[in-house]
Amino acid sequence: MHEDSAGRPALRALARAKGLRIGVAVSAGPLQDDPVYRAIIGREFNVLTCENAMKFGPLRPSRDAFAFEEADAIVAFAEKHGMAVRGHTLVWHKQLPAWLAKEWRNGDAAVDVVRGHIHTVVDHYQGKVFAWDVVNEALDATGKWRNTPFLRAFGPDYVKMAFHWAHEADPAAKLFYNDFGADGLNRKSDAMYRLLEDLVRQGAPVHGVGLQMHVTQREPPDPPSVAANIGRFADLGLEVHITEMDVRLEAPVSKAELEDQARVYRHVLAVCLEAEHCDVFVVWGVTDRYSWLPQVFPGAAAPLLFDDEGKPKSAYYGVCAALR
Ligand code: XIL
Repeated sequence: MHEDSAGRPALRALARAKGLRIGVAVSAGPLQDDPVYRAIIGREFNVLTCENAMKFGPLRPSRDAFAFEEADAIVAFAEKHGMAVRGHTLVWHKQLPAWLAKEWRNGDAAVDVVRGHIHTVVDHYQGKVFAWDVVNEALDATGKWRNTPFLRAFGPDYVKMAFHWAHEADPAAKLFYNDFGADGLNRKSDAMYRLLEDLVRQGAPVHGVGLQMHVTQREPPDPPSVAANIGRFADLGLEVHITEMDVRLEAPVSKAELEDQARVYRHVLAVCLEAEHCDVFVVWGVTDRYSWLPQVFPGAAAPLLFDDEGKPKSAYYGVCAALR
């Protein structure tokens, strides 16, 4: 088992022993510039997700150009360190390029652009990306269709179309529907269940559901409820990945809150380990320093497994405890 100088086994080794793969979202900037960030990833994880680099906007500076450099660099790092890559994400209403706005007006042109995008990107990473978040966040908090440009241009069938296009480009890739706020049993996850049930019934090439798991220490997910939710997707024949876990605290952060946070990580991971069809667990960032959360939720603090300096937190040891 791979150990560091302090004799601490890496998460990836502990996870492997449990038949789980443990991943992290990675950004190209710090991966290139910050040796601490790079070292933690290389040591601890065996799945990478590009935090932004594979999204539509970042990949498509213009209609006729693809910018694969940053995503390719992350994939190359993964290959060098024996890690698998989750592709994130093909169809999402955020981080779309500005030039796309005028394409929606012409339905046929919009279909060409989106189909072409999915084909080119999935083909580019064929054999390198084992699972794709094909459609991200298509439902709103009440479980209705989110009002996105995709919905307005193509109607609700866009979800099914996207899965078919991704499958055409890489028949071996596992294709996921990914969303947040649907981690346990609730109105939104009920709607997500009906959506997936429908896709399965129609024979769409969908293989899994991603539970993002952006949660708070104040209102943590209820483990039995998450277990029941995973169970019903498994009964549809689907895999479940925990795709973007972070546990938000509020500044200033106390030691007790950090301990609570560790418990939240431990409980969710324990549920995933217990479940038969949950074998990938991904955290949404490496060190607290680069987390996306403080920019989006003012006052949000310290959501990840490693602190600003890259030291493992209680949350890290909570994950270790679940893996032991
Ligand atoms: C976030 C990234 O972490 C940020 O860097 C970016 O500015 C916005 O997107 N759900 C998702 C992810 O599916 O793609 C989002 O990532 C976080 C919420």
